[in-house]
Amino acid sequence: MRNGAPIWFRGFCVFFSTNVWGLDKSGSSCINVTNNATALSTTWSWKANDTLVHAYPNINFNPIQHDPILISNLFSIDVKVSWSMRLKSSSMLSVFDTDGLAVVNAKTNVALDIFFDPEVEKAVNTTAPRYEVMVWIGKFGTILPIGASSTIRANRLHKQKIGKESFTLYQGPNDNGQYVFTWVAGSNKTYFEGDVSPLVHYLWRHGMILAANYIGVIQFGTEQKHAMSNVTFSVDRFALDATRGVPKEAAGLTRASPKREILYALIVVTLFRLM
Ligand SMILES: *[C@@H]1O[C@H](CO)[C@@H](O)[C@H](O)[C@H]1NC(C)=O
Ligand SMILES: *[C@@H]1O[C@H](CO)[C@@H](O)[C@H](O)[C@H]1NC(C)=O
Ligand SMILES: *[C@@H]1O[C@H](CO)[C@@H](O)[C@H](O)[C@H]1NC(C)=O
Ligand SMILES: *[C@@H]1O[C@H](CO)[C@@H](O)[C@H](O)[C@H]1NC(C)=O
Ligand SMILES: *[C@@H]1O[C@H](CO)[C@@H](O)[C@H](O)[C@H]1NC(C)=O
Ligand SMILES: *[C@@H]1O[C@H](CO)[C@@H](O)[C@H](O)[C@H]1NC(C)=O
Repeated sequence: MRNGAPIWFRGFCVFFSTNVWGLDKSGSSCINVTNNATALSTTWSWKANDTLVHAYPNINFNPIQHDPILISNLFSIDVKVSWSMRLKSSSMLSVFDTDGLAVVNAKTNVALDIFFDPEVEKAVNTTAPRYEVMVWIGKFGTILPIGASSTIRANRLHKQKIGKESFTLYQGPNDNGQYVFTWVAGSNKTYFEGDVSPLVHYLWRHGMILAANYIGVIQFGTEQKHAMSNVTFSVDRFALDATRGVPKEAAGLTRASPKREILYALIVVTLFRLM
């Protein structure tokens, strides 16, 4: 289908993009927009270069690109999606076909991709922003977020819940010099509904980024690295929205306890007296 053709959906302007940015000769990726642009599927295979993201076909939330939102003024990023990942040839009705995907050595994820930058002009361009936040709600095969390694102790990593699902944070720079924060869900969420803004606010509340950054891009799709036969990822339903307002409290903020603050004050006073 056409790359980047704008389509309006339920009052929100989204456009669907094939986004085959790691094209090589080892496969193909095609998108199919159906049901009056309320559903999307992509069928793909990539037989070589299995560490390369060959494509990220996605549903792009257009309003944010026209009107970026400062993180300090971000109230919510509402997401509602249901999806499946199967072999194209599969007759299975289950939402994901674990055995089939393992046989073709599928390496892929299902993820939201959010970009932000202190400058508005850069925030709206996916290659220019300083920061990227990914939220993985599906993960198949040996695909790891940037910054993950076997030596990292899982219990040392930051965690934040959205509803009942716990997300774990990985971080590091990508090849394009952008700093990438990836929140990975503890399980494949083939139906996901929630406000993911706490995953962004967590970063500034913990001093990893400044609140004076504009969110300029929000996308939902699948990163395709490898599969020996055609895999079909289908999004049966989706809704995306982002709203302005005072950020919600309780986004994982760990304040020093009052007791500890009093202790620090006493130490400072004592040191001052000693000087
Ligand atoms: C793998 O990627 C390299 C570099 O992008 C490319 O030159 C090569 O053709 C790719 N391999 C195949 C089989 O497409
Ligand atoms: C696109 O999806 C529709 C509805 O599921 C299906 O009938 C059609 O064959 C698909 N087209 C391609 C090229 O896969
Ligand atoms: C398709 O979507 C558009 C925009 O939401 C709407 O105006 C139109 O009535 C829909 N068409 C059908 C056949 O549902
Ligand atoms: C996006 O930024 C890149 C540099 O990072 C630049 O080459 C490109 O022209 C920009 N695209 C648009 C549409 O401004
Ligand atoms: C998703 O399912 C695949 C295949 O069953 C499994 O390997 C993977 O660990 C699951 N992902 C998560 C995050 O649980
Ligand atoms: C995947 O499907 C496409 C389109 O139908 C086809 O051209 C391609 O050969 C298939 N790839 C594999 C590995 O079966």
